[in-house]
Amino acid sequence: MANFFQNACKPEGFGGKIVVNMMNSGHAKMAEWGFGFLRLGETDNILDIGCGGGANIAHMLKQCPKGTVKGIDYSAVSVEKSGKVNADAIKSGKCEVVCGSVMELPFEKEQFDVVTAFETVYFWPGFHKAFAQVYKVLKKDGTFFICNEACGKNSADEKWTKMIEGMVIYTSEQLKQYLEEVGFTNIEARENDKGWLCITAKK
Ligand SMILES: C[S@@+](CC[C@H](N)C(=O)[O-])C[C@H]1O[C@@H](n2cnc3c(N)ncnc32)[C@H](O)[C@@H]1O
Repeated sequence: MANFFQNACKPEGFGGKIVVNMMNSGHAKMAEWGFGFLRLGETDNILDIGCGGGANIAHMLKQCPKGTVKGIDYSAVSVEKSGKVNADAIKSGKCEVVCGSVMELPFEKEQFDVVTAFETVYFWPGFHKAFAQVYKVLKKDGTFFICNEACGKNSADEKWTKMIEGMVIYTSEQLKQYLEEVGFTNIEARENDKGWLCITAKK
C-alpha cells in the first residue's frame, strides 16, 4: 500500500482526496495566525503556491474584493479541490487554479502584489530556482509570504520527515539566507510558542 502520508507532499488518488479535505480544516488555525502578518489591499492580485484544498484562496478572495487570486499546485487532486471550493469566484473571473510546479511558474513577470506559500516549501526541490521564480512573478515592492507549522527547532517534527519522502524542514535562518541570495529584502520572521513560522519578504 502506498504511504498515505506522502499525500502531504503531493495528494494523489483516493488517499489524496481525503488529505486535501483534512488540510483545509487542519491548517486553518496556523493560516489564521499567519494572515495576521500579511497586509492585503482590496485590489491586490495574489498567487497562492501549493494551494492544496483552496481554503486560503477563499479567505484571500474575501480580503481582496476588487482583486484576483490565482492558485497553483502540481497535484491534480489539489487543483480539483481548490477549484470546487472557489467555483463561484472562478465563474466570475476573480479566481483561477492551475496545475503546475513552483519550479516553472506559468505566469508573466511582475503581475502579483503578493505570493503566498502555506505549508508547502518543505517539498520544493531547489530554493534558488523556486524563489527566483517567485521573485520574477512579483511586482516591485511585492510581498512573498511563507507560513509553516514546523520551524525546524522542534525535534518532534522529525517524525514527519521520516514518514514523508522529500520533505525537509527549514529554520527561519535558512529560509532567510536563501531569500537574501535571490534578492529579497526587508525579510521578517516570526515564530510562536507552537513552533509555527511565518516569513514575509519584499521584492
Ligand atoms: C501540505 S499541502 C498544503 C496545502 C495548503 N497550502 C494548505 O496550507 O493547506 C502542500 C501542497 O503543496 C503542493 N506542492 C508541493 N510541492 C509543490 C511544487 N513543487 N509545486 C507546486 N505545488 C507543490 C502539494 O501538492 C500540496 O497540495
